[in-house]
Amino acid sequence: MDQLLVALDVESSERAMQLVNALHDLAGGFKIGNRLFTREGPTLVRRITDAGSRVFLDLKYHDIPNTVEQAVEAAVGTGAWMINVHSSGGMAMMQAAAWAARDTSAKLGRQTPLMIGVTVLTSMDQQALRSIGVERPVLEQVLALARMTKEAGLQGVVASAQETPEIRKACGPDFQIVTPGIRGASAGAERNDQSRTMGPADAIRAGASYLVVGRPIIAAADPRGAAAAIVEELTTVISR
Ligand code: C5P
Repeated sequence: MDQLLVALDVESSERAMQLVNALHDLAGGFKIGNRLFTREGPTLVRRITDAGSRVFLDLKYHDIPNTVEQAVEAAVGTGAWMINVHSSGGMAMMQAAAWAARDTSAKLGRQTPLMIGVTVLTSMDQQALRSIGVERPVLEQVLALARMTKEAGLQGVVASAQETPEIRKACGPDFQIVTPGIRGASAGAERNDQSRTMGPADAIRAGASYLVVGRPIIAAADPRGAAAAIVEELTTVISR
């Protein structure tokens, strides 16, 4: 199912490829984060894309525009389908990222990856924001950065399901909203460290474009069964 992205929060290529092989026909893509990428690098991204699955390279670039531009150029070279940066890196940084994605893809004759911004980390609450000098309410900061992300030419943001309806309203129907923190219903009752959660179908109803699901699938005794249950639930709100 196109909308289901499975977070490969595992420590080796071997385990990652077991999950990819078990889930490739159920998942719309696989997310590789900093831990797995730091261990296994671009070779693993290429293995997954060569096997025919889409990869969301979740490395959250945040640096000066020139460096981010070059990092995105390298990321596009791995075949990643979705790439993200921190929106708080600012307009020039995001524009450099968007430009690098378009330019490199054109040179390689590939489809341009979806470029996604991280607005405010969900680990940051009001007090944490204030401590870095941001006085406005969390949701206002999220919406301001989401609008700026769109203006910079990126395609969407990562956001909690709770923030999704407001972002959808502010940024329109074509903006991509990638939503983690999926729990409940077919995603199981175990919340782990996620606090503000939503079930798969409800998150789609709230306006999410893609769901990122990790532990409810990868830590299940039967990952394929767990993924199939989520796909089944999603078919009640999305036609395949
Ligand atoms: O295991 P779980 O379903 O909680 O995994 C969710 C994935 O989404 C993890 O890779 C986590 O790092 C990521 N994520 C998140 N919350 C955010 C941003 C990313 O849980 N706000």
